[in-house]
Amino acid sequence: MALARVTRHPILEVPEERRLVRFSFDGRPMGGFEGEMVSSALFANGVREFSIHRRGDAPQGIFCANGQCSQCTVVIDGFPQKSCVTALREGMDVRTLRRLPTLPEDDRPLGAIERKLRSCDVLVVGGGPSGLLATLELAELGFRVLLVDDKDRLGGKLVLQTHKFFGSIADCHAGTRGVDIARILEQRVRARPEVEVLLDTSVVGLFRDGRAGLFVANSGYTLVAFEGLVVSAGARERSLLFPGNDLPGVYGAGAFQTLVNRDLVRPAERVFIVGSGNVGLIAAYHALQAGISVAGICDILRKASGYKVHADKIRRMGVPIWLGYTVLEASADPATGRLAAVTIAKVDEWFRPQLDTAKSFAVDTLLVAVGLSPVDELYDAAVRYGYKVVKAGDAGEIAEASSAMFGGRIAGREMARMLGVEAPADPSWAAKAEVLKSRPGPVRDTAPVALGEKFRPIFHCSEEIPCNPCTSVCKAGAIHLDGVTGTILDLPVFEGECSACRLCVAICPGLAVVLGRKTGPESAELILPYEFLPDFAPGDHVRLTDVEGTFLEEAPVLALNLNRQHKTWFVRVSTSLANAPKIAGIRVQDEAKVQPLPEPLLGQLPENAVVCRCERVTVAEVVKHIRTHRVTDVNQLKQIRLGMGACGSKTCSALLPRVFAMAGVDFSQVAPGTRRPLCVEVPMAALVNEEPG
Ligand code: FES
Repeated sequence: MALARVTRHPILEVPEERRLVRFSFDGRPMGGFEGEMVSSALFANGVREFSIHRRGDAPQGIFCANGQCSQCTVVIDGFPQKSCVTALREGMDVRTLRRLPTLPEDDRPLGAIERKLRSCDVLVVGGGPSGLLATLELAELGFRVLLVDDKDRLGGKLVLQTHKFFGSIADCHAGTRGVDIARILEQRVRARPEVEVLLDTSVVGLFRDGRAGLFVANSGYTLVAFEGLVVSAGARERSLLFPGNDLPGVYGAGAFQTLVNRDLVRPAERVFIVGSGNVGLIAAYHALQAGISVAGICDILRKASGYKVHADKIRRMGVPIWLGYTVLEASADPATGRLAAVTIAKVDEWFRPQLDTAKSFAVDTLLVAVGLSPVDELYDAAVRYGYKVVKAGDAGEIAEASSAMFGGRIAGREMARMLGVEAPADPSWAAKAEVLKSRPGPVRDTAPVALGEKFRPIFHCSEEIPCNPCTSVCKAGAIHLDGVTGTILDLPVFEGECSACRLCVAICPGLAVVLGRKTGPESAELILPYEFLPDFAPGDHVRLTDVEGTFLEEAPVLALNLNRQHKTWFVRVSTSLANAPKIAGIRVQDEAKVQPLPEPLLGQLPENAVVCRCERVTVAEVVKHIRTHRVTDVNQLKQIRLGMGACGSKTCSALLPRVFAMAGVDFSQVAPGTRRPLCVEVPMAALVNEEPG
């Protein structure tokens, strides 16, 4: 089978030289890149089923690709391991996990070892945007920081982001792509002598004597003594209840971004996305950039929950957003057990699906983008033990990465104060963080633009969101904010002369700025941004749409130029004068990619949705147990094994309020479940191996 890799990408550099290694999967020889995650190598070789569950012999695929859900567990060289956080090595023997793993045959007692003890002033857990900024603040104040991250590189979710960031240039690198922001922050951290970084390293235990247990480089165990703890461990993706939700091919949008953008794997041919927040919208964009079709996005809400500029951009590219629609079911191909189709239907005002509106799409992948839950178990444990601890970023509150950067800075200063160094955070930081995490505000009517003979910007940006880089880069100083809120939520306006430098076009994260000018009584010329590998050349025609994706006209391309700094193409087109002020983008995928099947596929019962993925406990089983046993404590659900699996109830716990509501029980009156003590599963053998080197 041809390897499913991303070999060309408009934004990401595809490394030319990587060391190829051989491994086997269920005895079949396969190849991959040394050091990539085993799950990614398996995907690249066409593997989608990682285990066979003991309940129903159901095939299971990945869900998070983030070390959180345990769905990717396979047997590697005889030991069950999460393949999404295990690096590939030459000669690995990888096998499907069939039902429960068996204990290794070698049961010789292990000898005692003398354990090394590391020490630091502050242990920072998580090297995403907030952890990196907290680390920098602490290092600049002279603290010795040990920064640990369970991935093979720093940056957290930033490394998955090929799009430009919102916010302001001065405060949070707005207009720069997440993957580049990660590089910038990493360089700053690596330059600090006070900072030691451990990658592929998880905190697996917290003890009352001021020490934490680290699983270093995914191979050995060590202890670290610390004075303060910053928990910036990020977030995990939430699951959603619908029948077929555990089929191989149904997984988180973040997992998809990890496979495509971090590991350059092409895991799908055609995806559907549930959830129209920024994560779902951007996942669609990332799919299209990697040459993967997007059949559509649906959201039960009647308005897209992400930024309007993101949603508009996706619509312009040819992806329909089905608002007021829910997923009814995901259907498997009977021959393979893999996802083959998704069925959606409109909901009424009570969110009840209307079956006569159902439509099915043949897809091999359904991305779940319905929100995130904080990874904050370590923080809670540290509070219980009376540690000096702060949390930052998504571990504290789910928000944009731009806001998390300020949150990290504030957390760093707060930790310094706890450790006796008074260096209060700049009061403006909290205010800026608040603005950056603002929900989208009102959409304003904007005046139609009349084009003259000189170029001028046309803004297709009408919703209050925290973003202003176009005002910073304008060489003529002719773009400013309208001043309605007095913050960067305001909308850009143009006044003065445009020098046609095109920087506003290149930097806009929403691709919402076009330059235009009149060229004749009925003709105009536009310069549009484009972030794909162009499959057209000057003289060819492109399909142009209005801001929300309605086709307006076909137009000839006059010129194509790449802005290398911003990795954005300028596409110069000749259009009609009447349409020019409305034209906002170029169609990327054609209508055939988004057509539903002739007939909807219906037939599964909603109560067959899986709540606990690890133990495959369904909605029907949980509701029955709640009603029969008058459950008043989540721990009672352990009788039917809910929450008893390898992920430690991290995935199912977020679904429980909804399931209790289905059983007619107010979840706020139910005693919470006991959190499991370790946040990360560690092979027992690793506990008696000192960390390497
Ligand atoms: S897919 Fe690997 S832990 Fe979730």
